[in-house]
Amino acid sequence: MSVFVKVYSSLLFITIIESALSTAQFSTDLLYKESANDNLGDVIQFLREYDREAADTCNRVALSEWKYATNATDFNRRRMKEQQNLAAKFECISWRRATKFDTSRILEANLRRQLGKILQQGKCGLGDEKHLEITHVINMMKDNYNQVRICPFHGQTNLHSDGHNVTSFHAYCDLRLEPDITSIIEQSRNEKELLYVWNEFHEKIGPPVRNTFMRYVDLANQAAIQHGFRDAGEQMREQYEDPDFFFTVQDLWTQIQPLYKQLFTFVRRGLFMRYGEGVLRPDGPIPAHILGNMWGQNWRNIIDLIMPHTEMPDITGEMMKQGYTATKIFQVAEEFFTSLGLPPMSPEFWRNSIIQKPNDVYTQCSASAWDFCNLLDFRIKQCTQISLEDFINSHHEMTHIHYYMQYTTQPFIYRESPNPAFHEAAAHAIALNIGGPVHLQKVGLLSTHITASNGNSMINIEYLLNVALDKLPFMAFSLTVEKWRWYVFEKGPVGMNARWWDLRLRFQGIIPPNKRMSQHFDAGAKYHVISDQDYIKYFVATILQFQIYAELCAASNHVGPLHTCDFYRSREAGRLLSDFMQRGASLSSSQLIKLITRGKTSRLSAEPLLDFFRPLEAWLEQQNRDERVIGWSSNMDDIQLFQNLAMGYNTAYSSSSSSLFISFLACTTAIIKVLQLHIYTENFNLS
Ligand SMILES: *[C@@H]1O[C@H](CO)[C@@H](O)[C@H](O)[C@H]1NC(C)=O
Ligand SMILES: *[C@@H]1O[C@H](CO)[C@@H](O)[C@H](O)[C@H]1NC(C)=O
Ligand SMILES: [Zn+2]
Repeated sequence: MSVFVKVYSSLLFITIIESALSTAQFSTDLLYKESANDNLGDVIQFLREYDREAADTCNRVALSEWKYATNATDFNRRRMKEQQNLAAKFECISWRRATKFDTSRILEANLRRQLGKILQQGKCGLGDEKHLEITHVINMMKDNYNQVRICPFHGQTNLHSDGHNVTSFHAYCDLRLEPDITSIIEQSRNEKELLYVWNEFHEKIGPPVRNTFMRYVDLANQAAIQHGFRDAGEQMREQYEDPDFFFTVQDLWTQIQPLYKQLFTFVRRGLFMRYGEGVLRPDGPIPAHILGNMWGQNWRNIIDLIMPHTEMPDITGEMMKQGYTATKIFQVAEEFFTSLGLPPMSPEFWRNSIIQKPNDVYTQCSASAWDFCNLLDFRIKQCTQISLEDFINSHHEMTHIHYYMQYTTQPFIYRESPNPAFHEAAAHAIALNIGGPVHLQKVGLLSTHITASNGNSMINIEYLLNVALDKLPFMAFSLTVEKWRWYVFEKGPVGMNARWWDLRLRFQGIIPPNKRMSQHFDAGAKYHVISDQDYIKYFVATILQFQIYAELCAASNHVGPLHTCDFYRSREAGRLLSDFMQRGASLSSSQLIKLITRGKTSRLSAEPLLDFFRPLEAWLEQQNRDERVIGWSSNMDDIQLFQNLAMGYNTAYSSSSSSLFISFLACTTAIIKVLQLHIYTENFNLS
């Protein structure tokens, strides 16, 4: 929960400070202005001390977290907690000291930006007692999440009535989200089993923490107010440095939605052919349990249902044949970057990284890229499998490492991207290039020759379809999550579960598979919601990665359809990449976008994404030409699953007016978060 440790995707056990701020001494009131200090020398002195201490603190936390992540003993866990607590104290002490300065009277923009970054994020303004309480509240929700177990499916049909006797299965009631429940949702094609698992998980995960979550909302809002915001949603949006951010994301989605609906329609037909009338309608929304993912955020796992006859060549098999090892994969990745003119990985990197699952100690296997905050030590931890997926992932992780290395010339507080989306976007832009048929062919993993002129061949369409199934539903879902959370922070938790499904239906076209009540708390099934982590970064990162990719392609003088670009060996692309990475967070988001697009725009733009998918869109339109409804039409039965219709269909459902409620954001100075632990963790199921 603390801003000190920032994770880019959830590892279930580390990364979030579970701190007890028992000794940090500060009061809750913000009446510091009376003695406000605007002495420039004092500011510089404070920032210099902060820079040194923050980097030291970050280094100690990172080392202790690494230790635990690679050797999960109780002892290492306690050590990690101690360091995290010390870091949390440091964060609040720094915040307290920063409040002593009158930022409005500090005219030097760079100093004001640095100070602002220390001031606005986090929850230190709550004061000791409530800071402890919110920490405790979040930990309770995380514990519940991590402890959820369900019984296996035994053909039960009446789900949560008292009729089914699970006691006799108690010995086996130990299915966890990872890996058991996830793999059932991904692989099972038995609709009854999917429904059972979906329902059991939602029964166990949400209702027990519903009241706790309400207390969290209350405390998070109090903290936001202490930090100068109207509510916690506004505080979370602040780091995107766009006073119209709420509308910006909505507008971007409006542009992408026609493409999403084409994809949705094509997917629904495959599902309808498999499951039929009893489960979904040929023109309706899709029930949440049959999409191959607990949250319906990634549809790649059901590609067998929608594309039974695939022409995709077997890249993984080719890698095996060529004798690829984990080391070879990382060497190939290193060579990709040096071909762009970026430096090789350091000896420390090769010595300290863990690229294969060790078999002696318990190691967390989600891939992650670590910055130890001392300008030298950067590591990747990845239990590499010999597969196309991990081939791409290695390049993704190594992009994070290059980003860390490029901004080492910045002060500590700027050793980050302007907002969390840029780091991920850069890594995904590289991954897009690596996974593309043209690049795979260049590195000898794909024999079919792909040229710009045959960019519409079936291999290309299937490639684009895979990318689309991965990215477009994720955008719809991340928008849903954050729109919901912003709403709850602003309007309060009354009716929040109906609101959740209202938004899911509107943005994702997804309905619950059974009746939902107000005691359910289905948004709580997402870890980021109960663990107080930003989620819109995934939406922004998806937009941005195509912008970055298109610019790197342009720099390499690519001609032809965007998805046939490969900027391998282009020094010009490499120069652009290192140019913008070097800036860290010293530039604002819009300044950085301007640099990346070489002056063309300073805003997020959906154009490159739409451009990338254009051949797929044309193909989907052709496939969907006989469909009655492109997208989904919902009826009263759909709405009744989550709305109390006594409230009235119109008032309850047509409320697309949420955007009117949260209509203007205060135009505050551009500020981000305070101390960061720079670990980018990938866990594609948990993001
Ligand atoms: C794991 O951590 C324990 C301390 O809890 C230590 O004694 C042990 O040597 C470590 N194992 C490895 C392989 O580093
Ligand atoms: C449930 O199953 C257990 C074990 O088979 C049995 O002892 C118990 O009586 C059953 N309860 C009900 C309500 O059927
Ligand atoms: Zn990443």
